[in-house]
Amino acid sequence: MENRAVNCELPTNNYFCPMSAAKQRIDELTDTLNHHNFLYYQEAAPTISDYDFDMMLEELIKLEKENPDLVRLDSPTQRVGGGITKEFKTVVHKYPMMSLGNTYSFEDLEEFDNRVRKQIGNDFEYVAELKIDGCAIGITYKNGMLTQALTRGDGTQGDDVSTNIKTIRSVPIKLKGEGWPEEFEVRGEVYYPLDVFANLNKEREEIGEPALANPRNAAAGTLKMQDSTVVAKRKLDAFLYFLYGEDLPYKTHWESLQAVKSWGFRVNDAARQCKDLADVKAFINKWEHERHNLNFEIDGIVIKVNSYQHQRNLGFTAKSPRWAIAYKYKAETATTTLEKITYQVGRTGAITPVANLKPVQLAGTTVKRASLHNSDQIEKLDLREGDTVYIEKGGEIIPKVVGILKDEDHNSRVKFIYTSFCPEKDCGSLLIRDEGDAQHYCPNEDGCPPQIKGKIEHFASRKAMDIDGLGKETVELLYNKGLIKNIAGIYDLTGEMLSPLKKKGAVWVNNLLEGINESNKIPFERVLFALGIRHVGETVAKKLAYHFKDIYAIKEASLESLKAVNEIGEVIALSVFEWFRNDKHIEILARLKAAGLQFRLNEDKMQPASDKLAGLTFVVSGTFINYSRDGIKETIERNGGKVSGSVSGKTSYVVAGNDMGPSKLEKAQKLGVKIISEEEFTAMLN
Ligand code: IVH
Repeated sequence: MENRAVNCELPTNNYFCPMSAAKQRIDELTDTLNHHNFLYYQEAAPTISDYDFDMMLEELIKLEKENPDLVRLDSPTQRVGGGITKEFKTVVHKYPMMSLGNTYSFEDLEEFDNRVRKQIGNDFEYVAELKIDGCAIGITYKNGMLTQALTRGDGTQGDDVSTNIKTIRSVPIKLKGEGWPEEFEVRGEVYYPLDVFANLNKEREEIGEPALANPRNAAAGTLKMQDSTVVAKRKLDAFLYFLYGEDLPYKTHWESLQAVKSWGFRVNDAARQCKDLADVKAFINKWEHERHNLNFEIDGIVIKVNSYQHQRNLGFTAKSPRWAIAYKYKAETATTTLEKITYQVGRTGAITPVANLKPVQLAGTTVKRASLHNSDQIEKLDLREGDTVYIEKGGEIIPKVVGILKDEDHNSRVKFIYTSFCPEKDCGSLLIRDEGDAQHYCPNEDGCPPQIKGKIEHFASRKAMDIDGLGKETVELLYNKGLIKNIAGIYDLTGEMLSPLKKKGAVWVNNLLEGINESNKIPFERVLFALGIRHVGETVAKKLAYHFKDIYAIKEASLESLKAVNEIGEVIALSVFEWFRNDKHIEILARLKAAGLQFRLNEDKMQPASDKLAGLTFVVSGTFINYSRDGIKETIERNGGKVSGSVSGKTSYVVAGNDMGPSKLEKAQKLGVKIISEEEFTAMLN
């Protein structure tokens, strides 16, 4: 490329100025990538493939590394996080973050409407919006650039979470369009899309962590995480719904929303102008049903008087504006008696309290148990056995206890004291609770029955050793009969030991033994996952297996070398390191080795892994000549690529084998995703 020294800051006689060339390319890449980010995240209409995007991003990362002074504040590379915030700075809100008056009935709403009419007459309109159930945020922009993002805090001052907010790709770092005020603040709600939240919990379950209670708390927790790189991976999103600034050139809230949208923010499309309360009620009724089809939670509808002049006339109470109100949908609730609080012990030792209830009908099902999450929850509600409690079914599947009806007997009931010891009668170990952790843990992982049974169940499960016939019930039976005491015991089972279990029959015995025998073939990476090391899910197990190649190399690895593996952080590394420092685990490993389990990566997976497919997402369909279905997926992952089950705008390539599914083919063609053959795929690797 020919470059002329136009903007070169260094004095030079040269015709070619590398600095200006780099600047020009960095600017070009930054603008182009920001534009494509906008098309992807705001418009949901990408015009280039993920691959092309990633290639440009890679070039930008490289150029920025070579020219750190040229990195633009709005560079898309800022989205991947990187900053660690030890303590969030507390900052006073320029405009206090007020709450809204709540109503649950149309009568209350009519009263609100009457009050408004009394003050400003009949010539006005409302804007009705979805009330997003997330975490409030105020983001300030100066001269078109994001300068600060604050949480609500106590409404007067909040925490500066700018680095974390910048990782949300739908929040512009540099504004689009024109006409934005020199300085303004835009308010909105950060939330977890429900599919992202479900995935997050699935991943947590896989690594033996208790599920997060609900998307709202999870969003608040994520916003306050210290490591923005982790936040960047969590895929939070945000809707913006209010503009603050001095001398705004808009007459109405609706106009502001359109302007905010044109500057590149996500404004929820459902918002409507309503000419009167009847319109508002229709909007409320419509979303009462349709809210269940959204990919985010809403807890009601916000109604705002549209005109700014009218808003000024109406003013504020001490706590909230008189020109807006929240209509909250009633969560489906019921009251019943809390008969007993019991505990559940998970396979990693996490203790979860459970409310055992007098059976009650709620949203079409009989509820006998409800989640209590942790000891803080019980203490906060001052729950006592015998209390009448409110239970609610929100977005989550398991109902939860949300409050108590403090009747006159409440105080005379015995205060509930959370156990300090493992509730399992055959364990009783002193529980531990790490600083900052909401959950208590039982540390007796090798002697606590539910943990042992949970670990055996996990070991035998489909994604791990896939032992046919060794499900929850059988594990329970074999453990109770004293036939297995840990995962290694599975391989000591014999026909003689099992045949006394007469009721089960000979076929059952044979099938189980065959299932156990077959598990010898399960590849090393799955054996590693099956061991149930805390924080080692399927993906981490694969990463460790491909990196270290055999189990003894992992066992001998220092903490530093564990941490050096791509995407293995402090917490996982420490958990793995400590697992291999436990003599009981070493003894189990020796027995599993003697039983013939795969402790080494298969030869055909030993070829050096590469980054050749980094940044690419593949969908594989059909059957292949040189690969099994799992084999081709593993090859993709070993070379840095991602495998996805369904074709979307994010798919880089569909690898088509024989008998490729017609629906995948059709979708790929419709979205313009490249379809490649097995040979073309092999050529990419070579
Ligand atoms: S307007 C002064 N609009 O609900 C105007 N708030 O219970 C204040 N919220 O603090 C906010 N969706 O965190 C507004 N479309 C929406 C909203 C919304 C969710 C939250 C927000 C607010 C709380 C009030």
